[in-house]
Formats: sequence, structure tokens, C-alpha cells
Amino acid sequence: MYDLTQNTLAGQQALFPDASIPAAEPRHLLASKDLEPGEIRLILDLAKILKRQRNRLAQPIQPVENRILAMIFEKQSLRTRFTFETAIMELGGHAIYLTKADIDMGERESVYDVANNISRWSTMIVARLKSHQSLVELAKHSSVPVINALTDLEHPCQALADLMTVEEHLGAGPLNLAWIGDGNNVANSFAVTAAKLGHEVVICTPPGYEAVDECYALGSVTHCYDPAEAVSGAHAVYTDVWISMGQEDEKQERLKRFAKYQVNADLMAKADENAVFLHCLPARRDQEVTGEVIDGNQSVVFDQAENRLHTQKALMKLILDGVLN
Ligand code: CP
Ligand code: NVA
Repeated sequence: MYDLTQNTLAGQQALFPDASIPAAEPRHLLASKDLEPGEIRLILDLAKILKRQRNRLAQPIQPVENRILAMIFEKQSLRTRFTFETAIMELGGHAIYLTKADIDMGERESVYDVANNISRWSTMIVARLKSHQSLVELAKHSSVPVINALTDLEHPCQALADLMTVEEHLGAGPLNLAWIGDGNNVANSFAVTAAKLGHEVVICTPPGYEAVDECYALGSVTHCYDPAEAVSGAHAVYTDVWISMGQEDEKQERLKRFAKYQVNADLMAKADENAVFLHCLPARRDQEVTGEVIDGNQSVVFDQAENRLHTQKALMKLILDGVLN
């Protein structure tokens, strides 16, 4: 029986929060710099345990029952959508996927109103937005944690899976990691996360397509314009599309500017003999990478894709359990 004066069902804890207790600030992940090295370590270590558990069905994980994950996606996605939805389901929660066609945030309704509405119904928000500034705005007005699922500036969840994959193949390092191509959202997050784990990163782009300045301020991240120089001694060679979502109008110019930055067998031969090839996917075979490389035996791209699931599950579990706070 519900006791209105006590705000309880008989023998149970309070049903409604005590409004006099201020809510704790939610823990967001908007950019890779938001994670401390020890936190990245924790996510990767838990992800490895979750991966073993899932693949061997050894022990069930402790579920986070009935949690609702709001997923706001303004751009297309295969991996990020699938892995976040799977991760929250396997943690015992449920995802609600909202596209631009559904909510048209900023047009049909302000970011402020969307954040305040969704905060009342959900436990966490995962957002893939065109503008990083909109993500910052969403987080500012959200009372639940907001996780970046890709913006024009960052893709921090991708970087967690990338570094887990690198560790699985090459150990914890420190390693020399080469980024070849566009200094884009994936490059920014990869460089920051890798540097925080103690790796050396060389970002190699054509002039005008460098990563954000913040990356190079880290000391262990450097820049060069010559792909052969960048991959010399590299333990991993990473590339991404030359034309990211939303840059379709720049296609002709970009194809010209990036032509010398293709990762092909000749370039891979200049890296360490045991080097792995990384790509966040989706890929354009015979633009940024040849089929020979991405489908060859140095490629670990599907391990990266699989590890999106394990790292995001670990990240969400650590936030929901209050360990990352
Ligand atoms: N790598 C990645 O984020 O893939 P999707 O765009 O398919 O989610
Ligand atoms: N740089 C790419 C990554 C896709 C996962 C893009 O933003 O489209």
C-alpha cells in the first residue's frame, strides 16, 4: 500500500526523490579530453572483461534494470547506433532512437527544451550531432549524462574502441601511432586518447587539414605533411574517409588535396613490419585506403567495430554505477 505521508510503498524506499537534496551534476563525455588517463584505463579494462564474458558467456553481468537511453542522431550511423542499442539492452536497459526527422532539434524545438524534456524521461543521452556546439548546449541543459556519439569535432567513443583494439594486438605500449589523411573528428579524439595512454602520435595531413590545436599541445602529438615520414617506425597506421558526413560539397577539392595521402601497400611497407591498419569505418576503398590494405592481414578494422560495443558498454556501466562521476 502506498503511504502518501511517507512517500513509500510498505517496507520500501522512497518512491520520489527528495526535492530538498540537490541533484549531483551529471557526468558527461563530450570530448576525449574529458576523460582522465586512469578513467580510460578503467573503461578499457572493464571492456576487456565484458568482452570475455559476452563471448564465453562465463558470468552474467550485473544489469542496470529498466534504464532508458535516449539516442539523438542527426547523421547516419551503422556501428554507433547498433553498438549503443545492443550495449544498453545487454545491460538490461532500453534505447529510444530519435532522428532529425523525428525531433529536428534547434528547428522544431530548441536544444534547451529537448534537453529538459528528455532529462525527465531518460537515464542517459547519446547524441550524434552536426555541431559540437549543439552538443555542449545539450549537455548544459541536461540533468542526465550526455555522451558524444560523433560531432564535427570529436568522436571520443570511437577512440576508446581504437585504443582497446591496439592494445589487444600490440600490448599496452608505449607505441608509435600514425594518422594519415584528414585531421578530422576521429583524428582529434584518437590523438588525445592515445596521448593520454602514453603513446606517441604523428598526424599527417595536407596543409590546411590539420587536427585541432589542442591535440598538438599534448607534447606526444606531432604533425608532418609527408606520409612516408609519418609511418616510418609506426606500430599502427590509421586513416578515415577524406569526405566526412556533411562535407559532400567539398568532394572534388578534397579528392585532389588528399590524393597523395592514400594508405596503400607501399605506404604500409614503410611502417613497422608488425604494424596494424586501423579505420573507424565506413571506408571508401580506393580513396583513402586500397582494398588490398583494408582487406589484408594487417587490417584490424572489424575488431575496432566489435570493440565499440564493449567499450561503450563499459563506459555506460561505469557512469550508471556512479564509478565515473
Ligand atoms: N565508426 C562509426 O562511428 O561508424 P558509424 O558512422 O556507422 O556509426
Ligand atoms: N569522419 C567521419 C567518421 C564517420 C564515423 C565522419 O564524420 O563522417
